[in-house]
Amino acid sequence: MKGIILAGGKGTRLRPATLVMNKHLIPILNKPMVLYPIETLRDVFGIKDILIVSGGDHIGGFAEFLGDGSEYGVELTYRVQTQAGGIAQALALAENFAQGESIAVILGDNIFDAKALKKSSKNLKKSNNATLFLKEVPDAERFGVPTLNQKGKIVKITEKPQKPDSSYAVTGLYLYPGDVFKKVKKLKPSARGELEITDVNQMYVQEGKCNDIIFDGFWSDAGTPASLARTVLWAAEQSDIGTADDSSYLRLSP
Ligand code: G1P
Repeated sequence: MKGIILAGGKGTRLRPATLVMNKHLIPILNKPMVLYPIETLRDVFGIKDILIVSGGDHIGGFAEFLGDGSEYGVELTYRVQTQAGGIAQALALAENFAQGESIAVILGDNIFDAKALKKSSKNLKKSNNATLFLKEVPDAERFGVPTLNQKGKIVKITEKPQKPDSSYAVTGLYLYPGDVFKKVKKLKPSARGELEITDVNQMYVQEGKCNDIIFDGFWSDAGTPASLARTVLWAAEQSDIGTADDSSYLRLSP
């Protein structure tokens, strides 16, 4: 399996931090955000061969920081997305890289607890179906939301519904068989003018070829100030920062 990290977009919700810096290079403590999806692909799925897709104005920052990836135990390839046409349009650029193999696609701002995700994924088998990871959230209207039948199977996915049918978010981690690029080619732009990943997933649902895993560990998309703050707090909890010499600085009161 090959891995694809989609790290484009303007990061408007995190401005002004993102005016000159790509969102995915913003640090979560001392680790630029993009290291998290790299570690997820590497540690959960054992993927080493990874493509990073980002805009031309930012791709240099990724290459400068990550190089060929060897320092992080992966082999990196970079691809420039010249148009801002949505997540699925960025995915289309990975067709040559994938060479018909199955792929794991992750959005660059999606932070998972890798240990918990590995546990949830332990029964994954090679499949011609897509696999989506669902997470229960208090604000489902911000995400792609599945409608589930009584057996818990996805019957529909709606992108950012005003009234969500369930309290689950479709997270930004997608496992696809090699035929995903045929589906991407059939997409039409949505009302917001983008090729939506939700429409790709919906095609798999309609064909009865969509599996889902409910993930109950920590997950966030760190693309808003509030979710970035939540992610930083989680990362601090996970790290040894609490025992560091300067840990008394962690106190918020003067
Ligand atoms: C995107 C997807 C959405 C998904 C989310 C996960 O939303 O369109 O379906 O739930 O990522 O992070 P965006 O971050 O573009 O608003």
